[in-house]
Amino acid sequence: MEALVVSSDSRRLDVDAIHAFLGGESPWARGIPRATLERALANSLCFGGYLAGRQVAFARVITDRATFANLVDVFVLPGHRGRGYAARLMEAIVAHPDLAGLRRFTLATSSAHGLYARYGFTALNRPDLHMERYDPHAYDA
Ligand SMILES: CC(C)(COP(=O)(O)OP(=O)(O)OC[C@H]1O[C@@H](n2cnc3c(N)ncnc32)[C@H](O)[C@@H]1OP(=O)(O)O)[C@@H](O)C(=O)NCCC(=O)NCCS
Repeated sequence: MEALVVSSDSRRLDVDAIHAFLGGESPWARGIPRATLERALANSLCFGGYLAGRQVAFARVITDRATFANLVDVFVLPGHRGRGYAARLMEAIVAHPDLAGLRRFTLATSSAHGLYARYGFTALNRPDLHMERYDPHAYDA
């Protein structure tokens, strides 16, 4: 099986491919405007997964690179799933020096809890402490 090359070099990101998946196919960011995505990418620590130079996987970490991070927008393109590529992405993320020693690293997932559990993520210890302001219509035209 071809080895996935994981890079956090933002210059390598295929913004067209990321926008096509997140804006067109993902249930959570459908309709995200291209300019909004570009601003998010520019202000995040992003990880791309590449096969023969072509991007097939992505993850974005929103972080201060010192105390806190939130993992979002994880995907492997259909046709490339089930080959350990999400696992390769997660290994690169938890090994990244800017994400060492964080006090809290969060994520939200509807179905992939088992994947993230392997990298030390657990259910919220005190869910009563956490609040959010969520607008499901943020990207509505
Ligand atoms: C979720 C997703 C990123 C997994 O990517 P993937 O490359 O197929 O995952 P991997 O092949 O690296 O799987 C690694 C391990 O995690 C497990 N795993 C993968 N997806 C899982 C899921 N949804 N729930 C539980 N475990 C999962 C696999 O079984 C595998 O275990 P194994 O090593 O025992 O075989 C991919 O299916 C995807 O892009 N889905 C659509 C986008 C999405 O839902 N992203 C949000 C995730 S929060």
